Amino acid sequence: MKKKILVTGGCGYIGSHTVVSLIENNFEVTIIDDLSNSQEDVIDSIKEITGIKPNFLKCDLKNKDHIDNILKYHKGFEAIIHFAAHKAVGESVQNPLMYYQNNLTGLINLLVCAQKYNINNLIFSSSATVYGNPESLPISEKNKTQRPSSPYGNSKKVAEEIIEDLATASKDFSAISLRYFNPIGAHKSGLIGELPTGIPNNLMPYITQTAIGLREKLMVFGNDYPTKDGTPIRDYIHVEDLADAHVKALSRLLNKSQETNFEIMNLGTGNGFSVLEVIKTFEEVTQQKLNYEITQRRSGDVPKLYADAKLAEEKLNWKAERTLNEMIKSSWIWEQKVRKQL
Ligand code: UFG
Repeated sequence: MKKKILVTGGCGYIGSHTVVSLIENNFEVTIIDDLSNSQEDVIDSIKEITGIKPNFLKCDLKNKDHIDNILKYHKGFEAIIHFAAHKAVGESVQNPLMYYQNNLTGLINLLVCAQKYNINNLIFSSSATVYGNPESLPISEKNKTQRPSSPYGNSKKVAEEIIEDLATASKDFSAISLRYFNPIGAHKSGLIGELPTGIPNNLMPYITQTAIGLREKLMVFGNDYPTKDGTPIRDYIHVEDLADAHVKALSRLLNKSQETNFEIMNLGTGNGFSVLEVIKTFEEVTQQKLNYEITQRRSGDVPKLYADAKLAEEKLNWKAERTLNEMIKSSWIWEQKVRKQL
């Protein structure tokens, strides 16, 4: 019998890649997603990749009765992987309540219902943003968290605290929070990838959209940071590596291999690349000249952020394997494919 897993936000960027990985590892997946930042046809792409169509139910997690109803009629989930959340940093600064309402009310509703129906395993989609501007690098999970500079980031930090409190109160409940560094790339099939609505906030979709002619030029936000070439350094990680880590974390939960019932793990490669290095690699890998210009710093950006990823390696037996070249190549293949379809 396949183990049943509920994936919230499973039509989204990281969610869809994780669903593929789950199906390939013999789990039965049910996705709930409100499609606010994703498309239902992702389900068909997942079927094309894996040969299996995951179950899909449209559901907004702000509606607790709807979640309750779903869990009443769809029994037997062994775990939840919770991706569903808003994630645009700038938008969260403009509209903090929308972010707290969606990301925190959604989480609380989900946990209340999960408790009611006895689903006691959770994997939470967190972010390196909870570290703020770290004092030392690479950042390990032992580093103190800081109040993130955006409501989006703070919603991730508070969400972790809520989950930790529940784990303290209920010994039956187990959770792993995975702190992502900078996920980029797309599935090797070219069938799923990141599809930001409107103007992208993040570097890689902005680069690929510029190269394809959708944006005039990339603005590089500052070259006066204390780094090797003055541009900020980040730990970019291939979304397929990230997806595999979720499956490993899930197995850890289901096998009851945890040391404590709330664990936190960084998911990064441990390598940092500057914005200019990413641009240069993009130009080399794709043979495209990128139009870009150095402009002022973007507020809230930290100079350097890269992971100490040893804990995940030790506890999950997982290590990010794909190179920056592979990440960029797959992002570019995806961008070209998407634009042909639209
Ligand atoms: N950058 C540019 N131009 C752009 C976009 C980004 O120069 O058009 C630079 C940024 O200044 C930064 C780097 O590219 O130095 C990476 O920026 P991203 O927006 O891609 O990623 P961030 O590191 O800012 O964002 C990550 C996650 C978010 C998270 C955020 C919190 O992607 O989900 O960290 O700091 F909220």
